[in-house]
Amino acid sequence: DEGGSLAIVVLGASGDLAKKKTFPALFALFKQNYIPSESTKLFGYARSKLTDEDLQDRLRGYLTGGKTDEKTDPAQLANDFVKLITYTSGGYDEDAGFQKLDKLVEDWEKQTAHEGPHRRLFYMALPPSVYPLVAKMVRKHCMAKEGWTRVVIEKPFGKDLESAEKLSGELGELFTEDQLYRIDHYLGKEIVQNLLVMRFANRFLVPLWNAEHISNVQIVFKEPFGTEGRGGYFDEFGIIRDIIQNHLMQVLCLVAMEKPVSLDPEDVRDEKVKVLKSIGVPTLADCVLGQYEGYTDDDTVPDDSHTPTFATIVLRINNERWDGVPFILRAGKCLDQRKAEVRIQFKDTPGDIFKCKKQGRNELVLRLQPAEAIYLKMTVKQPGLEMQASQSELDLSYRDRYAEINIPEAYERLLLDVIRGDQQHFLRRDELKRAWEIFTPILHKIDEEKKKPTLYKQGGRGPPESDELIGAYGFQRTSGY
Ligand code: BG6
Repeated sequence: DEGGSLAIVVLGASGDLAKKKTFPALFALFKQNYIPSESTKLFGYARSKLTDEDLQDRLRGYLTGGKTDEKTDPAQLANDFVKLITYTSGGYDEDAGFQKLDKLVEDWEKQTAHEGPHRRLFYMALPPSVYPLVAKMVRKHCMAKEGWTRVVIEKPFGKDLESAEKLSGELGELFTEDQLYRIDHYLGKEIVQNLLVMRFANRFLVPLWNAEHISNVQIVFKEPFGTEGRGGYFDEFGIIRDIIQNHLMQVLCLVAMEKPVSLDPEDVRDEKVKVLKSIGVPTLADCVLGQYEGYTDDDTVPDDSHTPTFATIVLRINNERWDGVPFILRAGKCLDQRKAEVRIQFKDTPGDIFKCKKQGRNELVLRLQPAEAIYLKMTVKQPGLEMQASQSELDLSYRDRYAEINIPEAYERLLLDVIRGDQQHFLRRDELKRAWEIFTPILHKIDEEKKKPTLYKQGGRGPPESDELIGAYGFQRTSGY
């Protein structure tokens, strides 16, 4: 902790993201005393005309998560927290609005008795179309006079390579790379953060983590609901931009990258960029697209929309470690369950005297959600009189093993990183660029050819062609899959 004051400014404070994610994450940090009330103040800014109390009342209902000790009344804590929030309204291109905001922050900074730097964190919980505008206003009127200024932004970072680079260019003229925090909230998930430790701190995994032993890797995201009021946004982006290009690719990087020289954020991100550079650009033949039945019933979605709500894309990493191993990324909305997992399937064991191929292959599964777990499917003797092999699991289920530990929400952890100035779990500009280079050709092709996705039933597994494609790439279903 560098001491001094910390002003956290939520731009777009009256919106959905702020209400559902940003403020609850700040509340969780507040509860654990990471943002002490003596030295922290929260400022909300948006266009709506609201009083401080209006915003505070609006937020209260969302401030429930996380554990508190038995002595503390959660409602009281929420009250103490919302009292830290001051709201001011103004347009996103309005100099006067940002001057007013700056004055509010500065007056408070002067009042706080704390010695040390005045730190300012700006969180853009805004539609991406106004990022450049608002960033310009912050740069012009609201920078910390002494101490740091950091700006947090969230995807979508553009729609393709060209628009993403344009945005990066615009932001890059206003802020240095170490002032910009590009959030991908998957990087704040417990199991995703564990990937680095699990991979590089376990001797027995090291020699197996390559094409010699691994048959295929699947990274899967499933949601049991549709666009739920976000049809307008979603229809413009689709599942590849919404989930695959960012969340699943970030997970892929951590599964596939080489060991970084150290945990320094630049060393880690250098390795991620390296693996991204080794990935071949996919074609339409490597992909299955789907759309759930009833998607176009949403009033904000055009009746003839071809936007995919499901996609399976197979990627190849052309380097020595992964040559020949398909990385299968699969994401869909309105499917049978909520699940995100990494499934690493090993090759068959040579010389199968137990006839256990029938029992399935070894598989290491990392379940990001729900209920974090890491389990290893292995073949053991079925207990009993017969010499029979069957598949069982070594199961590290976090709920059982770490019952006492409150697993932090992704946003909570990432916001703490911003306060601490740790960029390891944030995207660097070159990383973002390369991820767009991989997906832009296929995205443009889908648009140009007006490629029609296969319709699939709500609550199912998605289009059957997806399972066929995955099968063709060597994936074998094991028990419980
Ligand atoms: C967001 C997407 O980035 O991630 C949403 O825009 C999706 O469409 C969400 O629902 C999923 O996040 P999580 O943490 O619930 O897996």
